[in-house]
Parts: sequence; C-alpha cells; structure tokens
Amino acid sequence: MNRIITAMAALLLMVGCKSNAKQNINREDKNMQKKVLVAYFSYSGTTKGYAEKIAKQAHADLFEIQAAQPYTDADVDWRDDNSRVNREMKTNPDSRPAIAKKVDNLKTYDVVFVGFPIWWYIAPNIINTFFETNDFKGKTIIPFFTSASSGPGETDKHLHKSINYNVTWKPAVRVNRWNDKELNEWVDKSIQ
Ligand SMILES: Cc1cc2nc3c(=O)[nH]c(=O)nc-3n(C[C@H](O)[C@H](O)[C@H](O)COP(=O)(O)O)c2cc1C
Repeated sequence: MNRIITAMAALLLMVGCKSNAKQNINREDKNMQKKVLVAYFSYSGTTKGYAEKIAKQAHADLFEIQAAQPYTDADVDWRDDNSRVNREMKTNPDSRPAIAKKVDNLKTYDVVFVGFPIWWYIAPNIINTFFETNDFKGKTIIPFFTSASSGPGETDKHLHKSINYNVTWKPAVRVNRWNDKELNEWVDKSIQ
C-alpha cells in the first residue's frame, strides 16, 4: 500500500513540474517575441538594481540614462535650497538636464521600460529630457520608479508634457514595494 501511495505522489509531482515548465516556456516565448529595452536613471543604485532585474525577466537590453554633467552628493542634497536638484526641480521646474549619450538603434525596440527615482514627488527632469530627445513613436512605454514612500503623484502628467508623439503609455508604478515574484509577474503582464 505504501508503495502505491509513494508512486502516486511521484506521479502527481511529475505532472505538476511538467505543467510549471510549460508555463515558464510559454511566458519566455511571449517575452521574447517583442524587442524590449530597459532604460533607467539612478543616483544611488536602487532603481539600477530593479532595472537589472526587469531586464533579466524581460530578456531586454539595458541602457543607463547618464547626465552629461554627473550628479554629486552635494548636487542631490535636498536639504540645501541651492543644491542642483533644488534648482532643477523647484526653482526652474522646466529645466532639462542634458544626457551624456543616446540609445543605440532605438527604432528596433517595441517596448521600453523607463525607470527613475522619485524626486520631489515626480520623475526627475532628466527623464523629460530623455523623452524630448528621442522619438518613441509607436512604442509601448512602461515607466517604473523607486521612492522612499511616495506613490506616482503627478509623474505621468509631468512626463506627458514631454511627449508629442503617439505611444502606448502604461501608468508609472512603484517597484520597490514588491518581492521578486511580484516584480516578475508585473513584467510579464506589462509586456503583453
Ligand atoms: C532630491 C531627492 C528628492 C527625493 N524626493 C522623494 C520624494 O518626494 N518621495 C519619496 O518617497 N522619496 C524621495 N526621495 C528618495 C528617492 O526617491 C529614493 O531613495 C530612491 O529609491 C532613490 O533611487 P536611486 O538609488 O535609484 O537614486 C528623494 C531623493 C532625493 C535625492
């Protein structure tokens, strides 16, 4: 009797594994049908870490949005009224910090994830520069961000000011509240 129960348990386990494997292959097939880019801006590395995980799950290329004049610790000191971030985001909210280099072969991508930290409740203005200096017409744009606690606020509205071409836009989401499983599920769902 014990042998029969053991054999049945083994059979059930095999069937379960096989169906999981099939689901994974289907998911990978879907993710690989589209050419995906993950572009991100990150000062202290949090957004970068999530961008790398997203790129792995999406089988995507990775592109770091780097400021032509790199930010320093003093530049991002939000307590200093005269720091670069305060001047760019508050004193001159229409500032467009220059980007060091352009994405290669942008036209070959179907889907572009765009990641950034939240600065003063919205996306940093360098992300506006990114949308204004590249043509994403016809692509699906999936913005994501990390923050200490803030949600998207007016981020989508702030970025839409910089887009004068047709795109499929998914609302910006905070990714650093999720575990890896939740992140991967969101990546799969977003690409489809
Ligand atoms: C200038 C500045 C402003 C920030 N403003 C906010 C904010 O409004 N809300 C929030 O939750 N976090 C805010 N943060 C925290 C960052 O969004 C958070 O630490 C983010 O994960 C950093 O990402 P990074 O490591 O990729 O640069 C701010 C950080 C800086 C430097």
